[in-house]
Amino acid sequence: MSRRTMESMDPLLAWRAEFPILASTTYMISHSLGAMPRHTADSLQEFAQTWAERGIRAWEEGWWEMPITVGNAIGRIIGAGDGEVVIHQNVSVCQWIVTSCFQWSGRRNKLVTDGLNFPSNDYIYHGLRRQGARVVAVPSPDGITLPTELMLAAIDEETQLVSVSHVAFRSSYVQDLAAIAARAHDVGAMIVADLYQSAGTLPVDVRALGIDFAVGGSVKWLCGGPGAGYLYVRRDVWPKLEPAATGWAAHREPFAFASGPVEFADSAFRFLNGTPNIPALYSARTGYEIIHRVGVTAIREKSLRQTQRLLDLAAEAGFRVNTPRPPAERGGVVTIDVPEGREVAQELERRGVLVDFRPGAGIRVAPHFYTADEENEQTMAELCSIVRHRAMNSRTQASTIGKAADSGSIRSK
Ligand SMILES: Cc1ncc(COP(=O)(O)O)c(C=O)c1O
Repeated sequence: MSRRTMESMDPLLAWRAEFPILASTTYMISHSLGAMPRHTADSLQEFAQTWAERGIRAWEEGWWEMPITVGNAIGRIIGAGDGEVVIHQNVSVCQWIVTSCFQWSGRRNKLVTDGLNFPSNDYIYHGLRRQGARVVAVPSPDGITLPTELMLAAIDEETQLVSVSHVAFRSSYVQDLAAIAARAHDVGAMIVADLYQSAGTLPVDVRALGIDFAVGGSVKWLCGGPGAGYLYVRRDVWPKLEPAATGWAAHREPFAFASGPVEFADSAFRFLNGTPNIPALYSARTGYEIIHRVGVTAIREKSLRQTQRLLDLAAEAGFRVNTPRPPAERGGVVTIDVPEGREVAQELERRGVLVDFRPGAGIRVAPHFYTADEENEQTMAELCSIVRHRAMNSRTQASTIGKAADSGSIRSK
Protein backbone atom coordinates (compact mmCIF):
# COMPACT_ATOMS: atom_id res chain seq x y z
CA MET A 1 0.00 0.00 0.00
CA SER A 2 1.41 3.45 -0.87
CA ARG A 3 2.25 5.95 1.84
CA ARG A 4 -0.43 8.28 0.51
CA THR A 5 -3.14 5.59 0.64
CA MET A 6 -2.09 4.64 4.18
CA GLU A 7 -2.24 8.27 5.27
CA SER A 8 -5.67 8.81 3.72
CA MET A 9 -6.98 5.89 5.79
CA ASP A 10 -5.18 6.96 8.95
CA PRO A 11 -4.32 10.70 8.94
CA LEU A 12 -2.16 10.38 12.08
CA LEU A 13 0.40 8.48 10.01
CA ALA A 14 1.40 11.80 8.44
CA TRP A 15 3.34 12.37 11.70
CA ARG A 16 5.63 9.40 11.02
CA ALA A 17 8.06 11.55 9.09
CA GLU A 18 8.70 13.52 12.29
CA PHE A 19 10.16 10.46 14.06
CA PRO A 20 13.38 9.16 12.49
CA ILE A 21 13.46 5.80 14.29
CA LEU A 22 10.20 4.71 12.64
CA ALA A 23 12.03 4.34 9.33
CA SER A 24 14.23 1.55 10.66
CA THR A 25 12.28 -0.22 13.44
CA THR A 26 8.81 -1.32 14.41
CA TYR A 27 8.48 0.88 17.45
CA MET A 28 5.99 -0.69 19.88
CA ILE A 29 7.56 0.63 23.08
CA SER A 30 6.25 4.17 23.64
CA HIS A 31 5.08 3.13 27.13
CA SER A 32 8.79 2.96 27.98
CA LEU A 33 10.59 5.45 25.73
CA GLY A 34 8.57 7.39 23.16
CA ALA A 35 10.22 7.95 19.78
CA MET A 36 12.34 11.10 19.50
CA PRO A 37 10.84 13.83 17.32
CA ARG A 38 13.21 14.99 14.56
CA HIS A 39 13.04 18.60 15.83
CA THR A 40 14.33 17.65 19.28
CA ALA A 41 17.83 17.83 17.80
CA ASP A 42 17.17 21.47 16.76
CA SER A 43 15.78 22.24 20.19
CA LEU A 44 18.90 20.87 21.90
CA GLN A 45 21.02 22.79 19.42
CA GLU A 46 19.09 25.92 20.42
CA PHE A 47 19.97 25.25 24.06
CA ALA A 48 23.67 24.93 23.21
CA GLN A 49 23.60 28.05 21.07
CA THR A 50 21.81 30.07 23.75
CA TRP A 51 24.35 29.02 26.34
CA ALA A 52 27.23 29.70 23.96
CA GLU A 53 26.00 33.09 22.79
CA ARG A 54 23.95 34.49 25.67
CA GLY A 55 25.86 32.95 28.57
CA ILE A 56 24.64 34.06 32.00
CA ARG A 57 22.03 36.34 30.41
CA ALA A 58 20.10 33.22 29.36
CA TRP A 59 18.71 32.86 32.89
CA GLU A 60 16.82 36.13 32.77
CA GLU A 61 15.99 35.71 29.10
CA GLY A 62 13.88 32.60 29.78
CA TRP A 63 15.81 29.81 31.46
CA TRP A 64 14.77 30.72 35.01
CA GLU A 65 11.07 30.58 34.12
CA MET A 66 11.33 27.46 32.00
CA PRO A 67 10.18 24.93 34.66
CA ILE A 68 6.90 26.87 34.58
CA THR A 69 6.66 27.95 30.93
CA VAL A 70 7.43 24.43 29.70
CA GLY A 71 5.09 23.15 32.44
CA ASN A 72 2.32 25.16 30.74
CA ALA A 73 2.69 22.92 27.69
CA ILE A 74 2.05 19.88 29.93
CA GLY A 75 -0.84 21.76 31.53
CA ARG A 76 -2.56 21.94 28.13
CA ILE A 77 -2.33 18.14 27.85
CA ILE A 78 -3.59 17.29 31.37
CA GLY A 79 -6.17 20.05 31.83
CA ALA A 80 -4.18 22.26 34.24
CA GLY A 81 -4.11 26.04 34.01
CA ASP A 82 -1.08 28.16 33.13
CA GLY A 83 1.40 28.33 35.99
CA GLU A 84 0.04 25.22 37.74
CA VAL A 85 2.64 22.70 36.56
CA VAL A 86 6.34 22.73 37.41
CA ILE A 87 8.99 20.52 35.92
CA HIS A 88 11.52 18.53 37.91
CA GLN A 89 13.82 15.71 36.99
CA ASN A 90 11.52 12.72 37.43
CA VAL A 91 8.47 11.30 39.20
CA SER A 92 10.50 10.08 42.15
CA VAL A 93 11.62 13.66 42.92
CA CYS A 94 8.05 14.92 42.52
CA GLN A 95 6.69 12.28 44.91
CA TRP A 96 9.34 13.18 47.40
CA ILE A 97 8.24 16.84 47.23
CA VAL A 98 4.53 15.97 47.54
CA THR A 99 4.97 13.71 50.56
CA SER A 100 7.24 16.27 52.23
CA CYS A 101 4.26 18.66 52.42
CA PHE A 102 2.72 16.59 55.24
CA GLN A 103 3.32 15.79 58.90
CA TRP A 104 3.28 12.03 59.33
CA SER A 105 3.42 11.83 63.10
CA GLY A 106 -0.17 12.69 64.13
CA ARG A 107 -3.34 10.60 64.23
CA ARG A 108 -4.00 11.31 60.53
CA ASN A 109 -0.91 9.49 59.32
CA LYS A 110 -2.22 6.93 56.86
CA LEU A 111 -0.96 6.85 53.28
CA VAL A 112 -3.22 4.66 51.16
CA THR A 113 -1.59 3.47 47.96
CA ASP A 114 -2.78 1.15 45.23
CA GLY A 115 -1.15 -2.24 44.91
CA LEU A 116 -0.43 -1.64 41.22
CA ASN A 117 1.59 1.52 41.86
CA PHE A 118 5.07 2.00 40.42
CA PRO A 119 7.82 0.68 42.77
CA SER A 120 9.60 4.05 43.06
CA ASN A 121 6.46 5.49 44.64
CA ASP A 122 6.24 2.57 47.06
CA TYR A 123 9.87 2.98 48.08
CA ILE A 124 9.33 6.64 48.91
CA TYR A 125 6.13 5.92 50.87
CA HIS A 126 7.74 3.15 52.90
CA GLY A 127 10.60 5.53 53.70
CA LEU A 128 8.02 7.80 55.38
CA ARG A 129 7.40 5.16 58.05
CA ARG A 130 10.44 6.59 59.84
CA GLN A 131 8.45 9.79 60.22
CA GLY A 132 5.44 7.92 61.59
CA ALA A 133 3.48 7.21 58.39
CA ARG A 134 1.31 4.10 58.20
CA VAL A 135 1.45 2.80 54.66
CA VAL A 136 -1.58 0.82 53.53
CA ALA A 137 -1.13 -0.78 50.12
CA VAL A 138 -4.43 -2.06 48.70
CA PRO A 139 -3.63 -5.35 46.98
CA SER A 140 -4.87 -6.17 43.51
CA PRO A 141 -6.84 -9.42 43.63
CA ASP A 142 -5.48 -10.65 40.27
CA GLY A 143 -2.35 -8.56 39.63
CA ILE A 144 -4.17 -6.90 36.72
CA THR A 145 -7.07 -4.86 38.11
CA LEU A 146 -7.97 -3.14 41.37
CA PRO A 147 -11.72 -2.76 41.86
CA THR A 148 -12.48 0.82 42.94
CA GLU A 149 -14.53 -0.38 45.97
CA LEU A 150 -11.35 -1.84 47.46
CA MET A 151 -9.56 1.49 47.21
CA LEU A 152 -12.58 3.37 48.58
CA ALA A 153 -12.88 0.99 51.54
CA ALA A 154 -9.26 1.61 52.58
CA ILE A 155 -9.65 5.41 52.77
CA ASP A 156 -10.82 6.66 56.16
CA GLU A 157 -10.62 9.63 58.57
CA GLU A 158 -7.05 8.73 59.48
CA THR A 159 -5.93 8.99 55.86
CA GLN A 160 -3.66 11.91 54.99
CA LEU A 161 -2.81 11.07 51.38
CA VAL A 162 -4.10 8.65 48.76
CA SER A 163 -1.81 7.63 45.93
CA VAL A 164 -3.12 6.20 42.70
CA SER A 165 -1.43 5.18 39.51
CA HIS A 166 -3.94 6.32 36.88
CA VAL A 167 -2.85 3.57 34.48
CA ALA A 168 -0.97 0.62 35.96
CA PHE A 169 2.47 0.18 34.43
CA ARG A 170 2.29 -3.63 34.11
CA SER A 171 -1.30 -4.38 33.12
CA SER A 172 -2.39 -0.97 31.77
CA TYR A 173 -5.48 -1.04 34.02
CA VAL A 174 -7.19 2.38 34.27
CA GLN A 175 -8.30 3.45 37.74
CA ASP A 176 -11.33 5.60 38.52
CA LEU A 177 -9.52 8.71 39.71
CA ALA A 178 -12.66 10.82 40.10
CA ALA A 179 -14.33 8.35 42.47
CA ILE A 180 -11.17 7.90 44.53
CA ALA A 181 -10.55 11.67 44.70
CA ALA A 182 -14.13 12.24 45.88
CA ARG A 183 -13.75 9.65 48.65
CA ALA A 184 -10.40 11.12 49.71
CA HIS A 185 -11.92 14.59 49.97
CA ASP A 186 -14.97 13.31 51.88
CA VAL A 187 -12.69 12.17 54.69
CA GLY A 188 -10.42 15.23 54.55
CA ALA A 189 -7.52 13.53 52.75
CA MET A 190 -5.66 14.60 49.61
CA ILE A 191 -4.86 12.58 46.50
CA VAL A 192 -1.78 12.31 44.30
CA ALA A 193 -2.17 10.63 40.91
CA ASP A 194 0.69 9.23 38.88
CA LEU A 195 -0.20 10.07 35.28
CA TYR A 196 2.95 8.68 33.71
CA GLN A 197 1.16 5.89 31.85
CA SER A 198 -1.94 7.93 30.99
CA ALA A 199 -1.04 11.49 29.96
CA GLY A 200 -0.44 11.58 26.22
CA THR A 201 -2.36 8.40 25.45
CA LEU A 202 -5.71 8.90 27.11
CA PRO A 203 -7.53 12.13 27.92
CA VAL A 204 -6.80 13.49 31.40
CA ASP A 205 -8.37 16.54 32.99
CA VAL A 206 -6.87 17.11 36.42
CA ARG A 207 -9.39 19.81 37.29
CA ALA A 208 -12.45 17.79 36.31
CA LEU A 209 -11.07 14.77 38.17
CA GLY A 210 -10.63 16.93 41.27
CA ILE A 211 -7.18 15.62 42.14
CA ASP A 212 -4.84 17.63 44.36
CA PHE A 213 -1.48 16.57 42.97
CA ALA A 214 -0.46 14.90 39.73
CA VAL A 215 2.96 13.65 38.80
CA GLY A 216 4.33 12.19 35.59
CA GLY A 217 7.25 12.21 33.24
CA SER A 218 8.06 12.90 29.63
CA VAL A 219 9.99 9.83 28.60
CA LYS A 220 7.04 7.73 27.45
CA TRP A 221 3.86 8.73 25.62
CA LEU A 222 4.85 12.42 25.54
CA CYS A 223 7.97 11.75 23.43
CA GLY A 224 9.90 14.31 25.48
CA GLY A 225 12.97 12.31 26.49
CA PRO A 226 14.52 11.84 29.94
CA GLY A 227 15.05 14.38 32.72
CA ALA A 228 11.69 16.18 32.75
CA GLY A 229 9.19 14.93 35.35
CA TYR A 230 6.22 17.16 36.06
CA LEU A 231 4.28 18.11 39.16
CA TYR A 232 0.79 19.63 39.16
CA VAL A 233 -0.62 21.04 42.38
CA ARG A 234 -4.19 22.34 42.56
CA ARG A 235 -3.91 26.09 42.91
CA ASP A 236 -6.30 26.57 45.84
CA VAL A 237 -4.23 24.31 48.11
CA TRP A 238 -0.92 26.09 47.48
CA PRO A 239 -1.10 28.40 50.51
CA LYS A 240 -1.30 25.51 52.97
CA LEU A 241 1.51 23.47 51.40
CA GLU A 242 5.09 24.02 52.47
CA PRO A 243 7.29 21.22 51.14
CA ALA A 244 10.21 20.24 53.38
CA ALA A 245 11.94 19.05 50.20
CA THR A 246 12.75 22.54 48.97
CA GLY A 247 15.54 24.84 47.84
CA TRP A 248 16.41 28.38 46.93
CA ALA A 249 14.28 28.52 43.76
CA ALA A 250 11.19 28.09 45.98
CA HIS A 251 11.92 31.27 47.93
CA ARG A 252 9.81 34.34 47.23
CA GLU A 253 13.01 36.33 46.67
CA PRO A 254 15.59 33.79 45.56
CA PHE A 255 18.15 36.38 44.57
CA ALA A 256 18.14 37.90 48.05
CA PHE A 257 19.94 34.70 49.13
CA ALA A 258 18.47 35.04 52.62
CA SER A 259 19.69 32.59 55.26
CA GLY A 260 17.34 30.80 57.67
CA PRO A 261 13.99 29.20 56.88
CA VAL A 262 12.57 29.51 53.38
CA GLU A 263 9.80 32.02 52.75
CA PHE A 264 7.79 30.33 50.07
CA ALA A 265 6.88 32.01 46.78
CA ASP A 266 3.14 32.53 46.26
CA SER A 267 3.38 30.96 42.80
CA ALA A 268 4.11 27.37 41.77
CA PHE A 269 7.79 28.25 42.22
CA ARG A 270 7.15 27.18 45.83
CA PHE A 271 7.29 23.58 44.58
CA LEU A 272 10.70 23.98 42.93
CA ASN A 273 14.04 23.49 44.67
CA GLY A 274 17.43 23.98 43.01
CA THR A 275 18.78 24.76 39.53
CA PRO A 276 16.46 23.28 36.89
CA ASN A 277 17.55 20.76 34.28
CA ILE A 278 17.47 23.19 31.35
CA PRO A 279 18.64 20.89 28.50
CA ALA A 280 15.89 18.39 29.39
CA LEU A 281 13.33 21.19 29.23
CA TYR A 282 14.46 22.08 25.71
CA SER A 283 14.24 18.46 24.67
CA ALA A 284 10.88 17.78 26.32
CA ARG A 285 8.92 20.68 24.85
CA THR A 286 9.17 19.39 21.27
CA GLY A 287 7.33 16.22 22.29
CA TYR A 288 4.65 18.10 24.24
CA GLU A 289 3.95 20.38 21.28
CA ILE A 290 3.44 17.42 18.95
CA ILE A 291 1.15 15.59 21.39
CA HIS A 292 -0.89 18.75 21.83
CA ARG A 293 -1.17 19.26 18.08
CA VAL A 294 -2.10 15.65 17.36
CA GLY A 295 -4.69 15.81 20.17
CA VAL A 296 -5.11 13.21 22.88
CA THR A 297 -8.71 12.44 21.86
CA ALA A 298 -7.52 11.32 18.41
CA ILE A 299 -4.61 9.43 19.99
CA ARG A 300 -6.95 7.57 22.35
CA GLU A 301 -9.39 6.68 19.56
CA LYS A 302 -6.61 5.14 17.49
CA SER A 303 -5.02 3.47 20.51
CA LEU A 304 -8.29 1.74 21.42
CA ARG A 305 -8.67 0.46 17.88
CA GLN A 306 -5.11 -0.83 17.64
CA THR A 307 -4.97 -2.33 21.14
CA GLN A 308 -8.28 -4.09 20.42
CA ARG A 309 -6.70 -5.63 17.34
CA LEU A 310 -3.72 -6.79 19.43
CA LEU A 311 -6.09 -8.33 21.97
CA ASP A 312 -7.97 -10.16 19.21
CA LEU A 313 -4.77 -11.46 17.61
CA ALA A 314 -3.44 -12.59 21.01
CA ALA A 315 -6.72 -14.43 21.68
CA GLU A 316 -6.54 -16.11 18.25
CA ALA A 317 -3.02 -17.27 19.04
CA GLY A 318 -4.15 -18.60 22.44
CA PHE A 319 -1.85 -16.27 24.40
CA ARG A 320 -2.65 -15.24 27.93
CA VAL A 321 -3.22 -11.47 28.13
CA ASN A 322 -2.66 -9.55 31.37
CA THR A 323 -4.51 -6.39 30.30
CA PRO A 324 -8.22 -5.78 30.91
CA ARG A 325 -10.38 -6.20 27.80
CA PRO A 326 -13.08 -3.51 28.44
CA PRO A 327 -11.98 -0.36 26.57
CA ALA A 328 -12.71 1.96 29.50
CA GLU A 329 -10.46 -0.13 31.74
CA ARG A 330 -7.38 -0.32 29.56
CA GLY A 331 -4.65 2.18 28.71
CA GLY A 332 -2.31 2.11 25.73
CA VAL A 333 -0.46 -1.14 26.42
CA VAL A 334 -1.34 -4.78 25.82
CA THR A 335 0.64 -7.14 28.04
CA ILE A 336 1.02 -10.59 26.56
CA ASP A 337 2.25 -13.41 28.77
CA VAL A 338 4.08 -16.07 26.75
CA PRO A 339 6.56 -18.68 28.02
CA GLU A 340 10.10 -17.28 28.39
CA GLY A 341 8.82 -13.79 27.71
CA ARG A 342 12.17 -12.10 28.35
CA GLU A 343 13.94 -14.17 25.68
CA VAL A 344 11.02 -13.76 23.28
CA ALA A 345 11.19 -9.96 23.71
CA GLN A 346 14.92 -10.10 23.00
CA GLU A 347 14.30 -12.09 19.83
CA LEU A 348 11.67 -9.56 18.75
CA GLU A 349 14.27 -6.84 19.20
CA ARG A 350 16.71 -8.80 17.01
CA ARG A 351 14.00 -8.82 14.36
CA GLY A 352 13.59 -5.03 14.61
CA VAL A 353 10.39 -5.04 16.70
CA LEU A 354 10.94 -3.07 19.92
CA VAL A 355 8.89 -4.10 22.96
CA ASP A 356 9.79 -4.85 26.57
CA PHE A 357 9.21 -7.49 29.21
CA ARG A 358 8.13 -7.07 32.83
CA PRO A 359 8.51 -10.01 35.23
CA GLY A 360 5.19 -11.31 36.53
CA ALA A 361 3.31 -9.55 33.72
CA GLY A 362 4.65 -10.37 30.26
CA ILE A 363 5.65 -8.62 27.06
CA ARG A 364 4.34 -5.08 26.87
CA VAL A 365 3.28 -4.04 23.38
CA ALA A 366 2.20 -0.47 22.70
CA PRO A 367 1.15 1.18 19.47
CA HIS A 368 1.18 5.00 19.55
CA PHE A 369 -0.35 7.56 17.19
CA TYR A 370 2.50 7.03 14.72
CA THR A 371 2.05 3.25 14.51
CA ALA A 372 0.80 1.79 11.22
CA ASP A 373 -1.73 -1.06 11.35
CA GLU A 374 0.78 -3.17 9.40
CA GLU A 375 3.22 -2.82 12.31
CA ASN A 376 0.60 -4.11 14.72
CA GLU A 377 0.08 -7.14 12.49
CA GLN A 378 3.83 -7.63 11.99
CA THR A 379 4.46 -7.55 15.75
CA MET A 380 1.92 -10.27 16.41
CA ALA A 381 3.06 -12.36 13.43
CA GLU A 382 6.68 -12.24 14.66
CA LEU A 383 5.59 -12.97 18.22
CA CYS A 384 3.59 -16.02 17.12
CA SER A 385 6.43 -17.29 14.96
CA ILE A 386 9.00 -16.94 17.77
CA VAL A 387 6.77 -18.62 20.36
CA ARG A 388 5.89 -21.49 17.99
CA HIS A 389 9.51 -21.95 16.98
CA ARG A 390 10.70 -22.06 20.61
CA ALA A 391 7.92 -24.50 21.57
CA MET A 392 8.88 -26.78 18.64
CA ASN A 393 12.56 -26.61 19.58
CA SER A 394 11.92 -27.48 23.19
CA ARG A 395 9.70 -30.44 22.12
CA THR A 396 12.46 -31.67 19.79
CA GLN A 397 15.04 -31.26 22.55
CA ALA A 398 12.85 -33.11 25.05
CA SER A 399 12.36 -36.01 22.69
CA THR A 400 16.12 -36.12 21.86
CA ILE A 401 16.92 -36.18 25.58
CA GLY A 402 14.25 -38.87 26.07
CA LYS A 403 15.73 -41.02 23.30
CA ALA A 404 19.29 -40.50 24.59
CA ALA A 405 18.17 -41.49 28.09
CA ASP A 406 16.45 -44.61 26.69
CA SER A 407 19.63 -45.59 24.86
CA GLY A 408 21.67 -45.05 28.06
CA SER A 409 23.81 -42.17 26.75
CA ILE A 410 22.50 -39.90 29.58
CA ARG A 411 22.94 -41.41 33.01
CA SER A 412 21.17 -40.17 36.07
CA LYS A 413 23.42 -39.01 38.88
C1 LIG B 1 3.56 4.81 36.31
C2 LIG B 1 5.02 5.13 36.45
N1 LIG B 1 5.44 5.95 37.43
C3 LIG B 1 6.75 6.27 37.60
C4 LIG B 1 7.70 5.75 36.74
C5 LIG B 1 9.15 6.12 36.96
O1 LIG B 1 9.29 7.44 37.21
P1 LIG B 1 10.69 8.22 37.31
O2 LIG B 1 11.74 7.39 36.67
O3 LIG B 1 10.43 9.47 36.57
O4 LIG B 1 10.92 8.44 38.76
C6 LIG B 1 7.30 4.89 35.69
C7 LIG B 1 8.22 4.30 34.73
O5 LIG B 1 9.37 4.45 34.58
C8 LIG B 1 5.93 4.58 35.56
O6 LIG B 1 5.52 3.76 34.58
